[in-house]
Amino acid sequence: MESSGMPQSTTPRMPCTLQSLARRSLLLRHRKEARQPRRISCEATGGGHVDRRDVLLGFGGAVAAGLATDRGAAIAAPIQAPDLRNCHRPDLPDTAPDTNCCPTYRAGSSIIDFRPPPASTPLRVRPAAHLVDREYLAKYERAVRLMKQLPADDPRSFEQQWRVHCAYCDGAFDQVGFPNLEIQVHNCWLFFPWHRFYVYFHERILGRLIGDETFALPFWNWDAPGGMTLPAIYANRSSPLYDERRDPAHQPPVLVDLDFSGTDPNIPRDQQIDMNLMIMYREMISGAKKTELFLGQPYRAGDEPDPGAGSFENVPHGTVHFWTGDPRQPNGEDMANFYSSARDPVFFSHHGNVDRLWRVWRGLRPGNTDFADPDWLDAAFLFYDEDARPVRVRVRDCLDTATLRYTYQDVGLPWLNARPAQKSAGTPAPAAGSLPATLDKTVRVTVTRPRVSRTRKEKDEEEEVLVVEGIEIADHFNRFVKFDVLVNEPESGVDATTAAATMYCAGSIAHTPHMMRHDKEKEKGSVKTVARFGVCDLMDDIGADGDKTVIVSLVPRCGGELVTVRGVSIGYVK
Ligand code: C2O
Repeated sequence: MESSGMPQSTTPRMPCTLQSLARRSLLLRHRKEARQPRRISCEATGGGHVDRRDVLLGFGGAVAAGLATDRGAAIAAPIQAPDLRNCHRPDLPDTAPDTNCCPTYRAGSSIIDFRPPPASTPLRVRPAAHLVDREYLAKYERAVRLMKQLPADDPRSFEQQWRVHCAYCDGAFDQVGFPNLEIQVHNCWLFFPWHRFYVYFHERILGRLIGDETFALPFWNWDAPGGMTLPAIYANRSSPLYDERRDPAHQPPVLVDLDFSGTDPNIPRDQQIDMNLMIMYREMISGAKKTELFLGQPYRAGDEPDPGAGSFENVPHGTVHFWTGDPRQPNGEDMANFYSSARDPVFFSHHGNVDRLWRVWRGLRPGNTDFADPDWLDAAFLFYDEDARPVRVRVRDCLDTATLRYTYQDVGLPWLNARPAQKSAGTPAPAAGSLPATLDKTVRVTVTRPRVSRTRKEKDEEEEVLVVEGIEIADHFNRFVKFDVLVNEPESGVDATTAAATMYCAGSIAHTPHMMRHDKEKEKGSVKTVARFGVCDLMDDIGADGDKTVIVSLVPRCGGELVTVRGVSIGYVK
């Protein structure tokens, strides 16, 4: 059963909750002076007195402990579409062969505001890549071939198309009004909507090139057993869909490892499939009960990049990038590095599935699961359309895929009940090491749970969230970084290669390398971020729901020596 797109509300504002108050005041501290006036004040709807303690609890222990008291003076604004005339060639290392990401700018071309296609436009139906027929494949290959033949400076050419991704994730664009800050569409709440538009315009251009306005890109159905290999249509050397910069050890029929950590687990196929399904279950169901846990953290005008990815962005999104990239290349090109990833045509298929699963996630949750925050809804980007016109889009324009006139082939959701087996939990391994620490080895710390044995209703209202704070990844342009977060890992140990599919695993941080703007005031190229994992179900499964403390292990899987972590705490999210 594939959920159909639900009517999506674009209501401008929900009542101001403690949650958003807390978020705003926290964000304010990181913001530069120059701001645009906030259009909507929380006070207008809040009215009453807010107990600071509630705000703290509503946000989460140690993070909230640093809250400023200037709550209420908050001013914020959505990220604005970049100014194409103001694009900087990212400062990529010499090992990157091709470092100019800036899109063609044609002087005088005026920017148009996005309008959805007429409701009478035929629906594009995106097929699963492993299920397409010869006729479809011929059409798709022809479209990509034509795109690759366009002059390199045509905004619709494949050359220009892949660079769009690089521009939005390697610091090419300034935030409008904040020349010291870059626009970054990963590791924040822009991740899903930005990539939805990116794939959407790419698809429209391909359709136009073959004169077929119903053309739909295929999606790489890596969440179902039948789709868990690199789709064969991309593996044919004489096809325009082929890319030589891929891991030669990961060609069909090798199964994708949604927990890929740099080495291939030597496990039977059935076990790999089960692991992948359990990881899907965690990322879509048990760990993704609240909007921000799935969509990522707020990121507004004036904010530093990378406030925090939804856990899905790390796994499986990031791990599939890593698994596909070529370890023989200096920077994991193409897919294991954000600057190069969209140079591989399978990128668009990978992101088709990411997009499909966003839609599925919303469909599984009755009611509105979007952020009601205007700073999300009005965040804007620029893309070129099939007529090579620059179009300004806003997040609110993309929330309903039916309005965009596309849908997905119904292929079922085989992970829907793939909850990891509950075993009686053994004695937890004792704490080892302390934070802050560099993750060159496993660190295990005791973490206090502010509330224990909550009722079902309390748990539904507020998800328990494990917060891994102060994650700093040193300049890591050529290295993928991943570490797993386990709770009450038993003394007897869990095998690292299968740990991610056990009831102890809250999730992973899996960071695809990208270049940061090298600001004078900032340490060169380091990424600073936070990770959050929903753990209500996990606490029940491991039998820790009544425990005042748990032991959290941070287990480095690759590039741990590049990572430092400041702390781990437990908070709650509405
Ligand atoms: Cu923009 Cu899969 O990354």
